Amino acid sequence: MDTRQQTNPSVSSDEWYTPRWIIDVLGPFDLDPCAPPEDRRPFTIAPTAWTKADDGLSHDWHGTVWMNPPYSRVLLRRFCEKMATHGDGIALLVNRQDNLLWQEVIFPTAKSMIFMRHRVKFIRPDGSTGSPFFGSCLVAWGDDCDRRLHQSGIEGKYVALNK
Ligand SMILES: C[S@@+](CC[C@H](N)C(=O)[O-])C[C@H]1O[C@@H](n2cnc3c(N)ncnc32)[C@H](O)[C@@H]1O
Repeated sequence: MDTRQQTNPSVSSDEWYTPRWIIDVLGPFDLDPCAPPEDRRPFTIAPTAWTKADDGLSHDWHGTVWMNPPYSRVLLRRFCEKMATHGDGIALLVNRQDNLLWQEVIFPTAKSMIFMRHRVKFIRPDGSTGSPFFGSCLVAWGDDCDRRLHQSGIEGKYVALNK
């Protein structure tokens, strides 16, 4: 069976929100194109935020983008393709380099990435925190975001991809 396109079965919801410390270290950002509804947001990531109801894929992106995308395979790929075309931003992604998304979209276009040393404690819609059963990577597009990753001090392995 070809497993390369499978999503992680432990990801049963899109609602795993980024902890504030990551935005504090890597920000500021201009746009969060895949944001929770306003009443569920634990804090403001960027001055412009588009929700599922807005459909962040249907807008023109601007500035430096923070992207912790929905996990469903089709949406995930479309968000990553849009980020690759936009070319200025950082994404927080599931550590799954054997799938086609990484091979066809991310590795050919991103500047750099960090394999995070620790499991991220995401924020859930009820305000609790939890770590899903997968590791995470941070991926940078554009020179400025590459610099932000490189200088972040976030524990893990920094890897240059396309410099
Ligand atoms: C993994 S959460 C991350 C939320 C936020 N960006 C963060 O970093 O904390 C992904 C979010 O994307 C939203 N979403 C799903 N489809 C979307 C779409 N087409 N356009 C914008 N947001 C969408 C989900 O409702 C969910 O809140």
